Amino acid sequence: MTEHIYPIFEKMLQREDRERLLKQRGTMIWLTGLSGSGKSTLAIALERELYKRGILCRILDGDNIRSGINNNLGFSEADRTENIRRIAEVAKLFVDCGIVTIAAFISPTNAIRRMAADIIGHDDFLEVYVSTPIEECERRDVKGLYARARRGEIKDFTGVSAPFEVPEHPFISIDTSCQALEDSVQELLETILPMVISDERLRIKD
Ligand code: ADX
Repeated sequence: MTEHIYPIFEKMLQREDRERLLKQRGTMIWLTGLSGSGKSTLAIALERELYKRGILCRILDGDNIRSGINNNLGFSEADRTENIRRIAEVAKLFVDCGIVTIAAFISPTNAIRRMAADIIGHDDFLEVYVSTPIEECERRDVKGLYARARRGEIKDFTGVSAPFEVPEHPFISIDTSCQALEDSVQELLETILPMVISDERLRIKD
């Protein structure tokens, strides 16, 4: 399918040029966890904290993406894989722009997350496991989906009738059931900030 296609990448400005412009490192922050675990809330709060520090971010979030670019996909294993494949390709473009890209998707299996990291590049990929236990997600049930899934009204619901595999080697794990949001964000920020600030910006600060 790539016959008669002539990429022009080498003529374009490079990622390093854009990173120099922004004085930050393009980084993928990949939040994975059950529905209701706090991924979106953490992503939003983290983006605001990074923004305050002059870091340009972009959030990619499950419900938003699924109502746009991926509105033709459901929750079968194949559709979830295609969902994450497209997201990873889009995220790769953002990272290549030097943007700190924060993804909030269940991305339920090791294979799916590995695929995302393969597409984006393992060096740029920070996996954050939002490890809030299912009991707490279900107690919150912000969207009422767990109750519906338990009644059998939603099939293939992650944690109820579809699997969630715990990440094997996350960069960091955050359990929002045992600490306040501010503390979770602070912990995330302290871990992530040194990874996204460029040496150039550090020199300016000195
Ligand atoms: S993923 O598994 O493909 O990564 P994604 O993060 O995009 O999922 O979408 C998850 C969101 O879709 C959930 O937060 C929930 O609001 C909604 N949803 C609807 N049906 C399901 C389902 N069967 N399983 C999980 N989430 C569902």
